[in-house]
Amino acid sequence: MSRQELTIGLFGFGCVGTGLYEVLAKTPTLKTTLKTVCIKHPHKSRKAPDHLFTTDPGAILNDPDINVVVELIDDADSAYAIVKTALLSGKAVVTANKKMLAEHLEELLAIQATTGVPLLYEAACCASIPIIRNLEEYYDNDLLESIQGIVNGSTNYILTRALEDNLTMNAALAQAQALGYAESNPILDTGGFDAKYKLVILLAHAFGLVVRPEEVFHCGIDQIGQLEWDYARAHNLKIKLVAHAYKTPGGSISAFVLPTFVAPDNKLYGVDDVFNGVVTQTCFADTQFFMGKGAGAYPTASAVLSDISALTYHYRYEHKKYNSAERLTPAEDIQLKVFLRHDLAHSTQFKRHFESIEACFTNRDAGYLIGTITLAALQVLMAHPGASLSPIALEVVHPAAVAWTQPTAEAAVLVS
Ligand SMILES: NC(=O)c1ccc[n+]([C@@H]2O[C@H](COP(=O)([O-])OP(=O)(O)OC[C@H]3O[C@@H](n4cnc5c(N)ncnc54)[C@H](OP(=O)(O)O)[C@@H]3O)[C@@H](O)[C@H]2O)c1
Repeated sequence: MSRQELTIGLFGFGCVGTGLYEVLAKTPTLKTTLKTVCIKHPHKSRKAPDHLFTTDPGAILNDPDINVVVELIDDADSAYAIVKTALLSGKAVVTANKKMLAEHLEELLAIQATTGVPLLYEAACCASIPIIRNLEEYYDNDLLESIQGIVNGSTNYILTRALEDNLTMNAALAQAQALGYAESNPILDTGGFDAKYKLVILLAHAFGLVVRPEEVFHCGIDQIGQLEWDYARAHNLKIKLVAHAYKTPGGSISAFVLPTFVAPDNKLYGVDDVFNGVVTQTCFADTQFFMGKGAGAYPTASAVLSDISALTYHYRYEHKKYNSAERLTPAEDIQLKVFLRHDLAHSTQFKRHFESIEACFTNRDAGYLIGTITLAALQVLMAHPGASLSPIALEVVHPAAVAWTQPTAEAAVLVS
């Protein structure tokens, strides 16, 4: 099949848009023409000729010469309107906007199915790691059992600097912002929302499971305090924000985003700073590990470039798992071993939610307990008004594998 000539209309000329402009200029073998760039503020100075720029979306969306829209703006609502209009008018779309995708995935898949127009978004998940196309193509037949991923570069940067440089979380966030790693609105990163949006996208390509973001339980890193860092240091662990998805023995999928203690024998232990990493577990290939830069102008632009290149040979996601007759349903029956830090006023109140408790510790300011809890019970607990709680996952315990153990003072000894 001959390669298709592409005429591109680009929305957004910020960090990633500017990166893409430079990357395209250095890739002359890719036969594409960047015709128009739509931005928001006309008076900003740009590192590209003035004649390319417009503030009128119609200059791209109504231009019959433009057959590809690349959407790289930081406003999910406007991005949704742009992407939907482009697809419905027959223009292929490449986007990096995970929030927009996660919030409208089902509708966008339906539009893609009825129009046959491709929508690609490798950059929306782990930036430079080619995880979506691998889940879509390579893991087409080998049955995936689980995915664990550090999918947010800025929180990983913050957690790495907090541990290695002993920085406060706020100081580490300020560094991440100064380096351009954090989203315009940092709560999207630190609150765990960005990781959740990416998990929603991964679920669709890994398991064919399309869920709404609000159906996926998540905790961010903004509540992590000193006790958690003390525990991590005492046990030679790192704290990572991990997106988890597991196929349960019943065949359903359990998915959540939680700060997680990671031991040195876990592949994710070495994924530091702005890097992302994804570990897959399959029936036949066993464990595989992907690692790469999860943010930044060029790493993200490289994934956008790869999607543009894929369009030249008519590539589109087939969503075979989503379209197959067997549907998977979200599950909350998984059990987790967690470390839960709490304030002193609530030190006994949370125990009844746990299946078993291994260790308890309190000092003058706060306390924690370590125990096994169902994901559903953890969700209830985290909705508890007024309690200052910080859960960190230690281990996933599959159903029926939990035995009652008495609380011990082991953790108190190790932290002191
Ligand atoms: N930065 C990363 O490392 C990274 C990694 C993966 C994915 N992403 C995703 O990539 C997308 C772009 O991120 P970014 O970091 O490049 O954002 P950014 O630096 O904040 O740039 C945003 C750009 O969007 C433009 N814009 C905003 N609203 C617009 C509208 N309604 N119409 C036209 N243009 C509009 C802005 O215009 P003005 O220049 O006129 O203000 C600006 O050029 C986001 O979805 C982000 O989540 C980013």
